[in-house]
Amino acid sequence: MSYPFQIASFDEYEKAYKASIEQPEKFWADVADTFSWRKRWDEVLEWNFREPKVEWFKGGKLNITENCLDRHLESSADTPAIIWEPNDPTQKSRTLTYRELHFKVVQFANVLRNNGISKGDRVCIYMGMVPELAIAVLACARIGAIHSVVFGGFSAQSIADRLQDASANYIITCDGAYRGNKEIPLKSVIDDALVQCEFVEKVIVLNRTRTPVSMIRGRDVWWDEEVQKVDSTGNPDLPAVEMDAEDPLFILYTSGSTGKPKGVVHTVAGYMVWTTYTFVNVFQYKRGEIHFCTADIGWITGHSYIIYGPLCAGATSLMFEGIPTWPDAGRFWDIIDKHTVNILYTAPTAIRSLMGFGLDPLKGKKLDSLRVLGTVGEPINEEAWHWYNENIGKSRCPIVDTWWQTETAGCLISNLAGITPSKPGWATLPLPGVIPKIVDEKGDEVVVAEDGFIKGNLCLTAPWPGILRTTYGDHERCRTNYFAAYPNLYFTGDGCLKDSNGFYRITGRVDDVLNVSGHRIGTAEVENAINMHTGVVESAVVGYPHDIKGQGIYGFVIYNGLEKDMELIRKDITLTVTRIIGPIAKPDKIQFVSGLPKTRSGKIMRRILRKIAEGETKNLGDTSTLLDPGIVEEIKNGRV
Ligand code: WT7
Repeated sequence: MSYPFQIASFDEYEKAYKASIEQPEKFWADVADTFSWRKRWDEVLEWNFREPKVEWFKGGKLNITENCLDRHLESSADTPAIIWEPNDPTQKSRTLTYRELHFKVVQFANVLRNNGISKGDRVCIYMGMVPELAIAVLACARIGAIHSVVFGGFSAQSIADRLQDASANYIITCDGAYRGNKEIPLKSVIDDALVQCEFVEKVIVLNRTRTPVSMIRGRDVWWDEEVQKVDSTGNPDLPAVEMDAEDPLFILYTSGSTGKPKGVVHTVAGYMVWTTYTFVNVFQYKRGEIHFCTADIGWITGHSYIIYGPLCAGATSLMFEGIPTWPDAGRFWDIIDKHTVNILYTAPTAIRSLMGFGLDPLKGKKLDSLRVLGTVGEPINEEAWHWYNENIGKSRCPIVDTWWQTETAGCLISNLAGITPSKPGWATLPLPGVIPKIVDEKGDEVVVAEDGFIKGNLCLTAPWPGILRTTYGDHERCRTNYFAAYPNLYFTGDGCLKDSNGFYRITGRVDDVLNVSGHRIGTAEVENAINMHTGVVESAVVGYPHDIKGQGIYGFVIYNGLEKDMELIRKDITLTVTRIIGPIAKPDKIQFVSGLPKTRSGKIMRRILRKIAEGETKNLGDTSTLLDPGIVEEIKNGRV
């Protein structure tokens, strides 16, 4: 049985797209009617991009976990909801059916309630990729607590910033996490963060690695003991808390062009509709199939395409604890054969890294269960696309190149697997409900093609159900970040091309945001971290092309400290960034300079630094407005 809103042909795509533009309210009401509601909405959509205000299905009452879990119990209680593959392939995998997952979510929702957590409370979740992470997320949603998942690679300082920004009084974590041959001491990182966050009342700790931890009386409790307490009282069947369609479901922090990450807020109903609709259509999910999204749940991709989208669709979602290259570079391919995976959704950076190991790790791997491949997070280069297509998809699996953002909840521009055409390196066509507009610097629509391509900044003209509603605690920031660059448009921060077929190719960020291995990192954030080092006077960070990561981080640093061993300082600065942000933001290159190219008004001319970092030394453009044009020569010659 297919889904009522599943697009089955190119013709149907065109019809759906047209209907979604001409009659958006009717179109999305029809989709939303296929979900389970406690009470139907009063109004489908109310919006303006001025404030901005976006409200979908206002007045509707529901709980997203009843859509993820309860409604599947009648027909598919024994269908696997989550298949979990551990980091270590010699350990047993685990399967949770919809019945089992439902039981565990209700049970843990009781634990949350027993620990004083209720609707509207913010709960920070800092865990490895274990099934209990999905259970924790869903248990929050069940009682209406707002989850804020923080990726396990972020530092204590980053966690403290996020806890403070959201006034999150509760934390769910693990003693440690396994990642390849490493053991990451999550609880001890939390303890470091909590030195600055005395408002945190409860920390629930899951035992995963038996890493030694210190448990603070009155604050820290063990997951298993709390579950036992609930069980001994008969695990009351906690009914899901009734939520308004526009109640917040979660906060997820993401980097922008300022130094401070922003808490993107998604609300219950629109997020549910968008992730489910896009999951079913982009991947052309068929009931019974096994979907393997390799992202971490700490990022939006994991929220939308490991947990909410697949579970709302009654799908089987494979969750992997480890990394693609341990114990060897055949790990993904083994998982695919072992669990007969049908859909593989991963990042170009992972493909490029595995490509680097050659074809040996593929020997003896069948990969014949695969039907659809997907990529997300950054532009995919043609070489990686072809390698993925030929060696993994055996040239018989459509590849979906899905463009979207933390702020969009789910895919906005993507081909639909096997239904609409693909083009290597191109995200291709907008999904129903998505109306792109390409504008120039002044905000005027670009209509004239250059070499057959329309080129400019990518905006969206109207809200789709999954658009962000605000940035937590600071609505004005949401407005200035996304809705102020061009009046009445949502600005994505991305540049793009459009070809004569109407296909889109996303060319990368046009703001001061880097995309490192598919992760967004603000240059200002990295600069702030580097500047924390005592000997650093000033720094400027730019991206440069990196074979595997897509972009690498290049820091230009003015240093006047006492230590003269520059290699040592380089290491110290790198360690500082790891301390302040986390290992994901470590600069790949640090060049010490005596000055930075600045305009007379004191603005750093990043354009010049970017060119130097990219290895371009000739056409640096106009440098006549620089305060000290001589500095450019020095920087050019000192390139690392
Ligand atoms: C930025 C969003 C989408 C979830 C993972 C990243 C870039 C994303 C593509 C793609 C070219 C892409 C954009 C976007 N991006 N997908 N298919 N082709 N670029 O989420 O951290 O919010 O980053 O990733 O630059 O703005 P994110």
